[in-house]
Amino acid sequence: MPIIEQTVDSLIPPSDPGWELLHYSQFMEQWSDEVFGRMERYNTNPELWGESLHFVKSYEESRRVSLDRNAPLPTVSLVEAIAGRKSSRAFDLGAQVTLEQLSGFLRLAYSELPGRDAVPRRTIPSGGGRYPLELYVFARAVKGVQPGLYHYNIRRFELESVEPARTVEQLREAYSPYGGMLESAAFSLWVTVVPDRTNRKYGLRGWRFVMMECGFLGQNIYLASSALGFGCCAVGGGWDPKVADFIGVNRSQEFPMLALAVGPQMVPDKVGLAVLDIGDQAEQP
Ligand SMILES: Cc1cc2nc3c(=O)[nH]c(=O)nc-3n(C[C@H](O)[C@H](O)[C@H](O)COP(=O)(O)O)c2cc1C
Repeated sequence: MPIIEQTVDSLIPPSDPGWELLHYSQFMEQWSDEVFGRMERYNTNPELWGESLHFVKSYEESRRVSLDRNAPLPTVSLVEAIAGRKSSRAFDLGAQVTLEQLSGFLRLAYSELPGRDAVPRRTIPSGGGRYPLELYVFARAVKGVQPGLYHYNIRRFELESVEPARTVEQLREAYSPYGGMLESAAFSLWVTVVPDRTNRKYGLRGWRFVMMECGFLGQNIYLASSALGFGCCAVGGGWDPKVADFIGVNRSQEFPMLALAVGPQMVPDKVGLAVLDIGDQAEQP
């Protein structure tokens, strides 16, 4: 038997039965005629294909902040952005981000692109074009944006305020001990998933897709941050029920997957030179 890996901590079992359960349930379902039939129906019926046009959550009654679709994009190369990607945990809340910078960041990280037929593509791929992700922005130091939590409406390229106003105390409670990092960044982001959008077409295999898509978006957010010279750190360690309350989502329909802190750093990294950098901050899980 080849050895895949050895755990250093013998207390942690090498394989978690939860993963096996997920894997085998997908495996058993994937070959059924029912699933193939359903996928075929979705791929050949324009109405079902176009369904994802409606997969954009919107907060109609909320206060809106228009983003700039023509905001300038950074000119650093993809190679530099990738080489500069790292997790930064010391943010400078005093250095504000402009609305133009936030717009440029969102254009890169997660926005619509011209697509097939009437259905726009996005800056990340999505299994079957089902776009199960939603994005929220907690603005702390963005010039011209009242601090608070916003839903990002990707179609309108607008921020929509989430009421009632969220407090930093709620954030701390949901993310102890990482709340401090999220709170100190110019803005933080939450990626949530609406699994039904994908699972309706793909069944249990959809779970695999939505997790991958969260990863695609997370990486785009890291690279967009790197390109703009911002620090970025993913934060996976929240307490889900409190995180869901903080964002204001019902976990039976939409659940939080990942938070990311983004903004100017205390000690800015030089974009593209992190490849020479052995790290200035303690590694954390
Ligand atoms: C899904 C995920 C969750 C993470 N959660 C945390 C976290 O809660 N706190 C933290 O400080 N870093 C967190 N990180 C950042 C990792 O610690 C970091 O990516 C890793 O140490 C490698 O460092 P690098 O990103 O600078 O290459 C997370 C990263 C990922 C991908």
